[in-house]
Amino acid sequence: MTAIKHVGVVGAGQMGRGITEVCARAGLHVTLCDVTEDRARAGLAGVADSLLKAEKRGAIAAEDRALALAGISVTDDLSRLSRADLVIEAAVEDEQAKTELFRQLDKVVTDPAAVLASNTSSIPIARLAAATGRPEAVVGLHFFNPVPVMPLVEVIPSLHTSKATELRVRAFAGEILGKKTVVAQDRAGFVVNSLLVPYLLAAVRMVSSGTATAEDIDTGMTAGCAHPMGPLRLADLIGLDTVAAIGEALYEEYREPLYAPPPLLRRMVESGLLGRKSGQGFFSYRAA
Ligand code: 3HC
Repeated sequence: MTAIKHVGVVGAGQMGRGITEVCARAGLHVTLCDVTEDRARAGLAGVADSLLKAEKRGAIAAEDRALALAGISVTDDLSRLSRADLVIEAAVEDEQAKTELFRQLDKVVTDPAAVLASNTSSIPIARLAAATGRPEAVVGLHFFNPVPVMPLVEVIPSLHTSKATELRVRAFAGEILGKKTVVAQDRAGFVVNSLLVPYLLAAVRMVSSGTATAEDIDTGMTAGCAHPMGPLRLADLIGLDTVAAIGEALYEEYREPLYAPPPLLRRMVESGLLGRKSGQGFFSYRAA
């Protein structure tokens, strides 16, 4: 089995950028792909900015920052991932879009042993694997936001994933990226989101019912439970559209009301209030 040296990342949003950054900092060659060259370039600009911040706070040397940046190329052409040893899909949390991507990746990635991984937080890996002719090489590799900071990666083998693929990606995430790995069964939400998302949705329901203000709900959990961030700021960080999409997927899988996105969350998403990335969610992120 060849060593993983060239990683393709599909999707230049906040997760794709973070995954690109940690792979490039580990000395890997990364090809970052999005549907337009502009989006891919914006992704690279975000990574460059984050690397610069890391250098300024002394977390990375100037030459290592330059090396990491030089190891990243961007494209809007999926076929540029043909020689990747590992592709990590971090596109929009939409089953149809992801399934189509896996169908295409299976065609363009030439090494039959190359691993096709998804950063999905809630879509069954088995469904993505079924879109390919190499289900044994398809696996879930779920990172956490902000990717350069959070130490965890969930590894999700489907019923078809080979043990060799599972061990290969565990070694990749653990030894090359320096992350902690846990293995979860192929169930919507895996470990972390199954526990986290109902908690975030409960906080949204508290805002709706007027139990307390958003500020006080968050302070309750930071000052009362030593969480680094309250649930509403965390929902804003993840993206309210993403939180709603994960809630929908969990609800579809388990039919438990606690997973159903509450009306306030749906209305905020429909109104373009997506949290930090749109400048406004439960809190404002616009410069005063
Ligand atoms: N990118 C890179 N580095 C970042 C960053 C970012 N977006 N945000 C913060 N950091 C770095 C800072 O530079 C700093 O690094 P340093 O210690 O080397 O100087 C360090 O993280 C701490 O940052 P700050 O001092 O600015 O701020 P905080 O101490 O408040 O930490 C936080 C910020 C790390 C985001 C912290 O609040 C936290 O851990 N929050 C919880 C995050 C969390 O729970 N994430 C999981 C979300 S669930 C998920 O992603 C799954 C998905 O499927 C939904």
